[in-house]
Amino acid sequence: MDVKGKLFTRFQERIKAYEQQQGEDSKRKQHSKGKLTARERIDLLFDEDTFEEIDAFSIAAPSGGDFGRTVKAFGDGVITGYGKISGRLAFAYAQDFTVMGGSLGSVHAAKICKIQDMALKMGAPVIGLIDSGGARIQEGVASLAGYAAIFNRNVKSSGVIPQISVIMGPAAGGAVYSPSLTDFVFMTNKTSYMFVTGPNVVKEVLNEDVSFDDLGGAMIHTKKSGVAHFVYEDEENTIRGVKKLLSYLPSNNLENPPYVECFDAEDRIDERIREIVPDDPNKPYDIKDVINLIIDRNSFFEIAELFAQNIVIGFGRLSGKTIGILANQPKVLAGTLDINSSVKGARFVRFCDAFNIPILTLEDVPGFLPGVDQEHNGIIRHGAKLLYAYSEATVPKITVILRKSYGGAYCVMNSKNLGGDFNFAWPTAEIAVMGPEGAVSILYRKELLESDDPAKLKKELTVKYRDEIANPYIADEKGYVDEVIDPALTRKKLISAFHALESKHVSVPSRKHGNIPL
Ligand code: HXC
Repeated sequence: MDVKGKLFTRFQERIKAYEQQQGEDSKRKQHSKGKLTARERIDLLFDEDTFEEIDAFSIAAPSGGDFGRTVKAFGDGVITGYGKISGRLAFAYAQDFTVMGGSLGSVHAAKICKIQDMALKMGAPVIGLIDSGGARIQEGVASLAGYAAIFNRNVKSSGVIPQISVIMGPAAGGAVYSPSLTDFVFMTNKTSYMFVTGPNVVKEVLNEDVSFDDLGGAMIHTKKSGVAHFVYEDEENTIRGVKKLLSYLPSNNLENPPYVECFDAEDRIDERIREIVPDDPNKPYDIKDVINLIIDRNSFFEIAELFAQNIVIGFGRLSGKTIGILANQPKVLAGTLDINSSVKGARFVRFCDAFNIPILTLEDVPGFLPGVDQEHNGIIRHGAKLLYAYSEATVPKITVILRKSYGGAYCVMNSKNLGGDFNFAWPTAEIAVMGPEGAVSILYRKELLESDDPAKLKKELTVKYRDEIANPYIADEKGYVDEVIDPALTRKKLISAFHALESKHVSVPSRKHGNIPL
């Protein structure tokens, strides 16, 4: 065989060896755990025949001793590359648990860093499909350095390109911190978990028994810790969710979000919206009914649906253009703002601001949640995050006050003087320092104590307070609200106002960065 022939034979043998490595054996191992292989995940994520793999033949080359545990496998346990997702460029890496538990050594880390660097240069999203036992123990400090290099790139890319993490198996030790530095975290129920230290260490150090799922399963992180934003029942649907999320986002911070043709009339008037807020001001209703009647039909995509449900956040479209929606949920904790909802809202506002996504706020909030627990855990500091985020955001910002807008919560929810561009109110809005009952008790304490019939007097004063103070008209007359609108016209008003704001330009003073109360 001539030299050229030999080279081609070697070339083909390598490809064959790589295919064998990713063949039936690794498939069987993954499928037996209810998981897909790294290759199958990549195939689901990218448009057909668009994925181009790079660094497929990298092999672990640890310096020093390797404790006899390094497996020399092509790709070193991670597939990296780029391709098209719904026709748009994206970069991704998928860890292969069948190679040393998807653990991260120096070569594995260098491959991920290369993808991150390319995505940043090209202005395209990065999606990490994570299935990893964390830092590769036998590579020691080189693995830790590899993680640090990835984290460093996560931070440099933050606010420049969307970064999405999809947990599809274990994410242990170092494997959890890259996801938490990215914008959105997806998990698959029952087969994925995230923890800094696993159940064995918990048992050793604290003598507590806890299962993988109870320590760091998808339900814990989407409901309780708020670490993850989405949970799906299987990997196919998880990846479908990632693609849906991407459809709302620009590829980078210099682009606008993609436009989707809108078949819903801009001037659609829906009379049902007038009936949603109940006559009784203390009766709850579902804010999602309002959202769905205002925005383009079937366009609402909720984020962190199970966590801090007293605030609803998500993307939607108005006249085909992406908006970010924040709405108090009267159905949960009466829509009050507490620590978790403030943090959830603040991070979402900052994401929207970074990626040119206009923000719509739907407000019905009786105030911050009172109590020792909230005060001692720092509601002052955490509530300030939401204030800071709204105030700092320069994207178009519109608020509609549906009902309650009391006290500090009035200020927080993108009020006019915090920087709201257009502030509307429905006739049912109650804008005041506090609710009628509290206000009457403070202002008329003496009279109520001395009254023969305090209940009757309180009722009369409450009605008077509503008529004179807790309504939208004082705010309207003073310009704190731009217009009191018929609820049925909300969609039309918002489309017109967001359209007017498309040329909004704000210059901010030069500084290194602000200091958000973390
Ligand atoms: C090297 C690892 C590994 C690791 C797993 N493996 N984790 N190899 N480094 N971190 C290997 C195993 O030796 C095994 O190899 C194969 O992967 C599959 O692992 P199993 O344990 O058999 O799988 P399973 O029972 O499913 O358990 C998965 C697991 C467990 C829960 C992830 O492997 C585990 O607890 N791993 C260690 C997790 C951890 O503590 N990581 C933290 C590292 S410290 P064989 O040859 O038998 O197939 C860290 C700090 C970084 O990450 C800090 C940065 C901020």
